[in-house]
Formats: sequence, C-alpha cells, structure tokens
Amino acid sequence: MIIPKLLSVFFLLLVCVHLLVLDGANAQALKQGFYKGKCPSFEEIVKNTTASFISRAPTLAPALLRMHFHDCFVRGCDGSVLINSTSSNQAEKDSIPNQTLRGFQVIDAVKSAVEKKCPSLVSCADIVALVARDAVTLFRWDEEMEE
Ligand SMILES: *[C@@H]1O[C@H](CO)[C@@H](O)[C@H](O)[C@H]1NC(C)=O
Ligand SMILES: *[C@@H]1O[C@H](CO)[C@@H](O)[C@H](O)[C@H]1NC(C)=O
Ligand SMILES: *[C@@H]1O[C@H](CO)[C@@H](O)[C@H](O)[C@H]1NC(C)=O
Repeated sequence: MIIPKLLSVFFLLLVCVHLLVLDGANAQALKQGFYKGKCPSFEEIVKNTTASFISRAPTLAPALLRMHFHDCFVRGCDGSVLINSTSSNQAEKDSIPNQTLRGFQVIDAVKSAVEKKCPSLVSCADIVALVARDAVTLFRWDEEMEE
C-alpha cells in the first residue's frame, strides 16, 4: 500500500528536519563521543543492547525512532516520554496518540545496562536518542519496507 509508505517517508523527513534544527539551535545537544571520558563503553552498551532487540523484532526500529520523535515533540528531548502516569497525572505515553508508542522495554533494558556500568551519569533523553540512532542504523530498511 502506497499511503503508509508515503507517511513513513514524510515522517522520516520530519525527523531529519527536526534533528538539523536541534543541532543548530542547541549547543547542549548530544554529540558523538560525548560520554567517552566518563563512560567509555556507553555507546557500545547502547548498540549491543539495541541490536539484541532489533535482531529479534526488526519492526521495533521504526518504533524507536518514533519514540525519540515523540519525546522531543513536547518541550524538547527531555526523556519525558518515559515517565509513567500517576493517579493525578496522565503521562505523555498514556495519551491517545502516544498509546501506540512501542519499544519502552528496549529503553528500559538499555537504561539498566548503562546504569550498571556508569551509575547516574547518562540521561534518559540521551539514551532514547542514541537507541533511535542505532535502531535506524541496524534496521534493514530496504527489506523491511517491502511488502
Ligand atoms: C558488544 O558486542 C561485541 C560483539 O559481540 C563484544 O565484543 C563487546 O564486548 C560487547 N560490548 C559490551 C560493552 O557489551
Ligand atoms: C514505568 O513502569 C514500568 C512498568 O511498571 C517500569 O518498568 C519502568 O521502569 C517505569 N518507568 C519509570 C521512568 O519509572
Ligand atoms: C503525546 O504526544 C504528542 C506528540 O505526538 C504531544 O503533543 C502530546 O502533548 C502528548 N500527550 C501528552 C498528554 O503529553
């Protein structure tokens, strides 16, 4: 079907534009190698953990990219998409369009693997961003997007 394909291409464009804007406007944006001094294995942990999920469930890759997009949509890339609802406060991920977000288990797994190695150092937003990057790199778009 052509419509879903067009939608996903449009979505990718949106993400790219968004990332460009972010790079230009925000000097605090995550840089490659940013954690090298403090947590040398950080990027490798993220990549290995993400890879273990993507190899079992390839369609998680677009889902993780989408999660990063949604995280950034509300007041910047702050990890807010991960917050759970409480009785008095509905979390972003429980609101209607965000109920279809998938891949929280990947983020949780990466987060706990990173915490084991480098406690209280890496922000959730950076983990969401890096997981999205690795998921996109690991995903074989050409094969998975064919019907
Ligand atoms: C990541 O995977 C590679 C290849 O399997 C392995 O050599 C490396 O030790 C792993 N790194 C971490 C931090 O788990
Ligand atoms: C949200 O709830 C899930 C499942 O109960 C839990 O695994 C996860 O760690 C929680 N996330 C946060 C940010 O508290
Ligand atoms: C759900 O995500 C959208 C972005 O897709 C955002 O505009 C909205 O505020 C989020 N919902 C809540 C309750 O935060």
